[in-house]
Amino acid sequence: MQISQAWIDIAYLAAASLFVLGIKGLTKPRTAVRGNLLAATGMLIAAVITLLHKDIVTYEWIIGGFVLGAVVGSLLAIKVKMTAMPQLVALLNGFGGGASFAVAAAEYFKGLDAAGAAGVLEAMAGQSTGMVAMIAIGAAVLIGSVTLTGSFIAFAKLQELIDGQPKGFPGMKFINLILLIGSVVAIGVLVNDPTQQVVFWSLVAAAAVLGVLLVMPIGGADMPVVIALLNSYSGLAAAAAGFVMGNSALIITGSLVGASGLILTNVMCKAMNRSLTNVLFGVMAEGGDAMDQDEVYGGKVRSSSAEEIAMILEPAKRVVIVPGFGLAMAQAQHAVRDLADSLEARGCEVEYAIHPVAGRMPGHMNVLLAEAEVPYDKLKTMEEINPTFEETDVAIVLGANDVTNPMAREDKGSPIYGMPILNVDKARNVVVIKRSLSPGFAGLPNPLFANDNTLMLFGDAKQSVLDVNTAYKES
Ligand code: TAP
Repeated sequence: MQISQAWIDIAYLAAASLFVLGIKGLTKPRTAVRGNLLAATGMLIAAVITLLHKDIVTYEWIIGGFVLGAVVGSLLAIKVKMTAMPQLVALLNGFGGGASFAVAAAEYFKGLDAAGAAGVLEAMAGQSTGMVAMIAIGAAVLIGSVTLTGSFIAFAKLQELIDGQPKGFPGMKFINLILLIGSVVAIGVLVNDPTQQVVFWSLVAAAAVLGVLLVMPIGGADMPVVIALLNSYSGLAAAAAGFVMGNSALIITGSLVGASGLILTNVMCKAMNRSLTNVLFGVMAEGGDAMDQDEVYGGKVRSSSAEEIAMILEPAKRVVIVPGFGLAMAQAQHAVRDLADSLEARGCEVEYAIHPVAGRMPGHMNVLLAEAEVPYDKLKTMEEINPTFEETDVAIVLGANDVTNPMAREDKGSPIYGMPILNVDKARNVVVIKRSLSPGFAGLPNPLFANDNTLMLFGDAKQSVLDVNTAYKES
């Protein structure tokens, strides 16, 4: 069955509207499931309508690809652990970029086959002029290849298949610049004469090498920001592929992914107090006289036991739990939910303070706590919770570190100065649960641990919370 272009366009418009509504829904936990469903419905409409397009001549390969993709996708969804989500996203971005590259390359060779040397630009034209089509093909190949290889390097670093440390060599930035300029020149040559297949393959090679060299100098810990950026690139590549085929749904979807990836990159950079240039060129913020560990902690840290913490919690009317990367490492989300239930059963108000970059990926804490069925309305953003710390009896910092470091607020010489933090130190009592005084991601000591109102409970986050809950119930 085939349908007219007008119906296809109407269906694409409906799909695009559903994508926009879906993204809107995803902005709030309460509407996120509905948002996801709307976007998935949009994708279903777009996919089914595309299958009815007149240019599809055989369904065998499509069905084969569909079955293979569904099997691989389902296995990945079932098997991959939450902590490995960033590398899975990296891999999926890479495939997205690769798909756009493949579409653009296929259109290029289809144009060559159809027209021979002479009329190739016209043959590639589709709905636009041949020149625009060739520019779009060039852009999709360039951005798609960079995304493909860059994402694979990001995946390999996060999966520890290669060393996560920044890797570079003298003159690397210069070579990157040459590769970029070379790629743009190659696109220019192809626009002039699309039959230059050697130039086409040189463009592919240059872009692929550029992707590797762009991501190699970035440290593993900055990878989540890079992945958000590569996500944005995969959207741009898809939009370019949309122009190649004159497919409005792909243009709109690609632009949505491109824009939202850029916004996410910006949010993450701001919350980490890093500029995008610093992330991309692997530069950590300059620290003036960053204090050393002994100076900060020397004789001031008070260690405690689960029983002592239970005693502090006993009279508490309001407790705020501040989860961080250690919660994910210890998988303490269910234990913390049980402790919150015990506290609430005795009339204590419990809320969770969510810092935008707590953990190692956007929404890391939200996802973990949702898994333990912590009600969404108890998860408070940094802006919502910060004014309430002064009325909080106990703040329990659970495997978090940098996101609570008062140096970010007070110490102009500190590398994290200016990073917005959770003002945990303003609470009446602070309990910090972590295994040692080791620093977090930023590698800095945290004066919060040495404050007069802070008690440390050293141990694994999950076991410690279980112990505190047992002691609390017995108290
Ligand atoms: P961090 O500052 O990284 O501190 C995590 C703490 O968890 C460590 O100090 C560690 O101390 C503790 N820990 C590890 N395993 C534990 C376990 N099993 N039980 C108890 N504690 C454990 O974490 P954060 O406060 O969540 O801050 C996140 C950091 O990552 C920020 O600097 C942020 O900029 C950066 N970052 C975030 C993202 C995103 S998007 N979320 C992306 C890139 C970078 P011990 O070893 O002493 O236990």
